This record gives sequence, structure tokens and C-alpha cells, in this order.
Amino acid sequence: MGAGLFITFEGIDGSGKSTQARLLAETLGDEGHDVVLTREPGGSAGAEDIRRLVLQGDPDRWSPETEILLFTAARRDHLEKTIDPALAAGRIVVSDRFADSTRVYQGITRGDLRETVDALHRLMIGREPDLTFIVDMDPALGLERALARQTAEERFEGFGVDMQMRMRAGFLALAREFSDRCVVVDGNREIGDIAAEIAALTRARLA
Ligand code: ADP
Ligand code: TYD
Repeated sequence: MGAGLFITFEGIDGSGKSTQARLLAETLGDEGHDVVLTREPGGSAGAEDIRRLVLQGDPDRWSPETEILLFTAARRDHLEKTIDPALAAGRIVVSDRFADSTRVYQGITRGDLRETVDALHRLMIGREPDLTFIVDMDPALGLERALARQTAEERFEGFGVDMQMRMRAGFLALAREFSDRCVVVDGNREIGDIAAEIAALTRARLA
């Protein structure tokens, strides 16, 4: 059994993370790797239950502090049930969002709570990805795409373009803070071109 590889995708809503995570998982699978494609909030039965609590309903339903607890609880279950067992079995885990999302969404944009986010992360999660793709995207276009989806999961999508701009800046700042594992990819291109760059970077990491 190998050591496994933990890859995450991050970025603002509508940046193309889910599309790129799926394409990378397919490509790696086609190339003979054993891949688990997962997502946050969610990725295990318990965490998918928490997903409904945090993403549906009134935007004021939870305080930023309660939100941090809920996202961290979901992540802990995801880690225990899905991520850790897969990595221990030597598989490649590709996750659509992980702890960087909490650092940005709850840590910066919902109040200055980064210290709280970091303390809970140390206490309850304690794992960082091996490789993180931050899909960078024009905030207005990202919001347009996210809103076009028309789902019930819209608690965070009513925040508007100003908030999207702050989140984008937050992700770019994280890329500098965790420059050892983060790669910023330009999401304002054709889906196939972005996927090809991400696949090449991943192959280089695996080699
Ligand atoms: P995210 O997971 O970051 O919210 P998605 O992958 O769900 O983003 O993409 C949001 C929408 O934009 C989807 O309808 C998807 O098909 C489309 N999309 C994704 N990437 C691109 C791209 N590079 N160019 C044009 N449309 C895209
Ligand atoms: P996601 O399903 O990835 O939405 P999208 O495809 O629109 O990017 O994530 C749902 C929302 O949850 C998104 O607005 C970001 C938010 N979120 C947080 O606020 N904190 C977190 O820790 C995570 C994982 C997500």
C-alpha cells in the first residue's frame, strides 16, 4: 500500500471547482490510479446531513461561530469515515473544498474569526492536503454561474459580488500563506485547457 495523496480544490462559488475535481478524478482513474472523489461540506453520510443544515434556509440561521462548529463537525466526520481510511489504503483522495474554505468563508468574510477557525482545526482536524488547486475566477462571472444553478443550497449565494471579491482575495492570500501546497490556476479559460494544466501538475507531483 502506498502513502496516498490528498488533493483539494478551492475557490469562490461558481469558479469551476466541481467540474475540475470530477475531471481530474476521471483522468487519474483512466491512468490506473485508485481515486476517491469527494466534497465538502459532505463526503460522508453524517457530513451530508450537516450539509443540509448549513446550506439551506435563512442566511441568518446560524451565527459565524456556530457555522464554524458545524463545518468543522462535518469535516471531522468526513475525515474519519472517508478521507483517512482512503489515504491509509494508499488511494488518491480528490476533494471539492476542504479546510481552506472555512479559513476564507468563516475566517475572513463572516467576521474576523480566523484564529477561532485555526484553533478548532488544530484541535479537531490537524490534516492539510498534499496539493491544493485554487481555481481563480472573475467574481462577477462566478456569481452568475453559481446563481444560474437554481438549487436550494443558496444560503451563501445571496452575498453578492462584493463578498465574492473579498473571498477571491482571501483564497489568493491563502495561496501565498500555504505556498508549499497551493497552486493558483486561471479558471477564466476553456474547461479542457484548465483540466489539462491541472492533470499535468498532478502527474508531476505523483512522479
Ligand atoms: P463550482 O464547483 O466552483 O461552484 P462548477 O464546477 O459547479 O463550479 O461550475 C459552475 C458552472 O459553470 C457549471 O454550470 C459549469 O458547467 C460551468 N463551468 C465550469 N467551468 C467552466 C469554464 N471553464 N468555462 C465555462 N463554464 C464553466
Ligand atoms: P459548494 O457546494 O462547493 O458550493 P459551490 O459549488 O457554489 O462553490 O459549497 C457550498 C457553500 O458552502 C459555498 O458557498 C461555500 C460554503 N462553505 C463554507 O462557508 N465553509 C466551508 O468550510 C465549506 C466547506 C463551504
